[in-house]
Amino acid sequence: MFRPAAAATAAIAILSPCAPEAHAQETATAEGVLAPENANEARLNRLQPPDQVMDAIGIQAGMIGAEIGAGRGRYVVQLAVRVGESGKIYAEDIDATALRHLDQRCERWGLANVVSILGDVTDPRLPAGELDFIFAISSYHHFSDPITLLRNARSALKPEGMVAIGEWLQSTSPEEIEAQMSAAGYTLERTETFLEANDLYIYVFRIADAHRQ
Ligand SMILES: C[S@@+](CC[C@H](N)C(=O)[O-])C[C@H]1O[C@@H](n2cnc3c(N)ncnc32)[C@H](O)[C@@H]1O
Repeated sequence: MFRPAAAATAAIAILSPCAPEAHAQETATAEGVLAPENANEARLNRLQPPDQVMDAIGIQAGMIGAEIGAGRGRYVVQLAVRVGESGKIYAEDIDATALRHLDQRCERWGLANVVSILGDVTDPRLPAGELDFIFAISSYHHFSDPITLLRNARSALKPEGMVAIGEWLQSTSPEEIEAQMSAAGYTLERTETFLEANDLYIYVFRIADAHRQ
């Protein structure tokens, strides 16, 4: 079992960078590696329960994955603990300040299986051919050119790798996501709708046959 190093409980002053979910600055106490750092993270974790989401996608120990749009690491800590010491998570974002916070968060909790990557708006700069999954949550509608971004991410996946996207229904329709992902070279495998009451669908895509090496 993966045991992140113990760390002192920290009082953290946080201003979330993630509009439109951003809320007023608040102070919160982190009780453990998986604990939300502030009220906004706690609210999002209630709407997107990490264990249920990761179970639905099929995230398992030993997997190597990446989160595109990882922000300050709210979900990266969940993914890192789930894949464990034998797995690895690449935490990618275009916001260097958010990644610095993410790095400190992982260091504080001894998560040695997380590597952060500062990406470009249309190129996540992920390592080639290494990934079992690419994940994005609450981020898809922030991508200014999701087709180019996800097209450029494709080469990072193993041939049977998946892209799993958790996205608000009110931000992007299922039809729009499927069309854009198709243009990026993916085929929709399934849509998980169990969080529809929370306005969230989870989409699992595979590399389209025409693009599989
Ligand atoms: C609402 S935050 C979500 C952060 C994290 N996934 C979470 O749920 O806590 C959206 C993130 O997407 C990032 N982002 C926006 N455009 C991006 C792009 N083209 N490539 C990578 N990340 C991007 C932002 O910098 C921001 O950190």
